[in-house]
Amino acid sequence: MFLLTTLCALFALLAVVPVYATTGVIVPLYQFPVTSANWAPLETALSTFPSLQFYVIINPNSGPGDADSQPDPAYQTNIQTLRTHSNALLVGYVLTGFGTRASADVLQDIQTYAGWDASYGVDGIFFDQTMAGFDAEYTSYSDAVRSTAWPGRATRYVCDHEPWENIGNSDYYALADRDTRDAAQTYAEFQQESPIPLPHPAQQSVIIHTFTGAGVSNQTLSSVVTSLKSSGFASTYITNLNISETDVYANFGSDFAEFVADVAA
Ligand SMILES: *[C@@H]1O[C@H](CO)[C@@H](O)[C@H](O)[C@H]1NC(C)=O
Ligand SMILES: *[C@@H]1O[C@H](CO)[C@@H](O)[C@H](O)[C@H]1NC(C)=O
Repeated sequence: MFLLTTLCALFALLAVVPVYATTGVIVPLYQFPVTSANWAPLETALSTFPSLQFYVIINPNSGPGDADSQPDPAYQTNIQTLRTHSNALLVGYVLTGFGTRASADVLQDIQTYAGWDASYGVDGIFFDQTMAGFDAEYTSYSDAVRSTAWPGRATRYVCDHEPWENIGNSDYYALADRDTRDAAQTYAEFQQESPIPLPHPAQQSVIIHTFTGAGVSNQTLSSVVTSLKSSGFASTYITNLNISETDVYANFGSDFAEFVADVAA
């Protein structure tokens, strides 16, 4: 009886928030799809690895754009294509300014995403620049995501993204489905941060950019991915684009296909 009750509770939870057992790929897709070629590497990865879960952060303009607007037609078309893949969970980017952005503006962004047509809608929200100490604000934001009707979608997914230094002491694991950490720029700095505290690995994600430089090879990439997977991280993103040279999320790195293959391996 206890087991049955527990299972029912578990399934009740699963109905709202999917739980994925293995490490997936989180993609900061902060690039305008000028043509379908821009998002083609992601499209290819989604088709090549249909059982690998992707969490894709849709970000037209450091948020959804104007209040209650629909996204640009190029976004509409290309999101529709992403949505043909059942392994793509889409979250809309919302800036919170380390807790200081006006709540009304944050809530408006959530409503704007929720107002996108069902054919190109998202599954939830990715809150960027979250910060410990703003519990009331973030509770109201995640409540807003969960209580909003997302046309055609049942997921109501909440991600947040905070600086590394909060990783061990954040209250937001209780609020969010995923908590991501943006690793410092270089692989060397990432190594300095290691071992990363693992308070809730199944909710934690790691993003590393500037994964390049002397001694960094495909083997290095594959061994870092293997170690993140064996730590049980929910998802990861690694790119060899160099933050000193380019906007690292405005394009895919030349290592993207290799990275995805390593996560799927
Ligand atoms: C990133 O680019 C800067 C500027 O070109 C360069 O000095 C630096 O060495 C690069 N970093 C790595 C890790 O390659
Ligand atoms: C790294 O992997 C990519 C993609 O599989 C491949 O094109 C490239 O040749 C590899 N580089 C090395 C040095 O093996």
